[in-house]
Amino acid sequence: MTDFFEDKIAERLGGINFGKSTAIYKFELIKRAKAAAKLARPDVMLIDMGVGEPDWPADDIVVKTLAREAGKPENRWYADNGIPEFQEAAAEYLERVYGVKGLVPSEHIVHGIGSKPVLAMLPVCFINPGDVMLTTVPGYPVSATYTKYLGGEVYNLPLLESNSFLPDLDSVPKEIRKKAKLLYLNYPNNPTGAVASREFFRKVVDFASENGIVVVHDAAYGALTYDGYKPLSFLSVDGAMDVGIEVHSLSKAFNMTGWRIGFVCGNSKAVKAYATVKDNTDSGQFRAIQKAAVSAFENTDITFKTIEKYSRRFNMLVDALNEAGFNARKPKGSFYCYVKAPEGTRDGKKFNTASGFSEYLIRAALISTVPWDDAGKYVRFSVTFEADTLQEEKNVINEMKRRLKSLSLKF
Ligand SMILES: Cc1ncc(COP(=O)(O)O)c(C=O)c1O
Repeated sequence: MTDFFEDKIAERLGGINFGKSTAIYKFELIKRAKAAAKLARPDVMLIDMGVGEPDWPADDIVVKTLAREAGKPENRWYADNGIPEFQEAAAEYLERVYGVKGLVPSEHIVHGIGSKPVLAMLPVCFINPGDVMLTTVPGYPVSATYTKYLGGEVYNLPLLESNSFLPDLDSVPKEIRKKAKLLYLNYPNNPTGAVASREFFRKVVDFASENGIVVVHDAAYGALTYDGYKPLSFLSVDGAMDVGIEVHSLSKAFNMTGWRIGFVCGNSKAVKAYATVKDNTDSGQFRAIQKAAVSAFENTDITFKTIEKYSRRFNMLVDALNEAGFNARKPKGSFYCYVKAPEGTRDGKKFNTASGFSEYLIRAALISTVPWDDAGKYVRFSVTFEADTLQEEKNVINEMKRRLKSLSLKF
């Protein structure tokens, strides 16, 4: 029988070639390597340093709010573009945590079902065929993928250690600037853990206004900061509200990944454009979840407790990695430690890519990481590994260190 769908799939998904590619994507490779390693050595614990979400569940306060609100008849309706209580609490949160003043909740803030769908919808608001989106690599690819779906082009800005993992905006050629419509940034950054400075954000505002480019700042990890670096909002910089918007999430700072709640804030016209696309895409997050999110905003201790745990784990992780030969530094934000992959091992193995090293690490030592080969060979260790007590944290790190050292890695 002929395949009815053979010629039905849109070109943006590959057209008639859809589903025929034999390329195996990074996360699938990791999944397969993990499964094979567990099968080969069922008695050895897999140390998963690759996880990109919190190990703690949502706080009791938040869970109880949801439990209380879930059954109330007034919460049953489609929530459309959201409830005012959420917008007001988000504005108050931005002022308290980030010092962003003067936001009008009904004009400058609209919720999203997590920040991922927000990042998918924003290109729909701005990208016409042929427009360019500037994006940092390595990074979270959702807006770039949608830009391509819409017939736009993506111009990559590599995040290099030599530039503190900030993009070099001066390097963008004139003809690209002319076609550029969007600039996607993400600080604290996934995967590098780098943070932005106020000075960098000022430069971004100048670059955006000179070239007529809308800035989308992804602040998914915004509140997770360490060692004196304070949460920094792009919107707190003069002129930012004129050129951009910021996307926030409760996933990481409040341990609420599965709850699917975030918001966009900033320039009112841009927010209105998002609200228009959103209104034609979904019917809003369940009001009880929005109300639970309000209780999270009012209890930022949840974030402080989380930061304390991650900070402690980073201290242990960085020491352990350095003892095994890596050049690790504690980041100022996010929950990721991004380190250069070794060249090989002292007994002659060579790693041509970070992916190759990461796969070897799973098979040889049952340690899972996430590799990045977009701008140098790096692997990402996350401090969200499973450990219920301080002693367990120490055990995991010590065992990871022992295994890494036994590999005699060469850098
Ligand atoms: C940089 C970045 N942005 C956005 C997201 C999406 O977060 P959520 O959709 O849970 O708000 C993630 C998730 O890992 C991320 O790493």
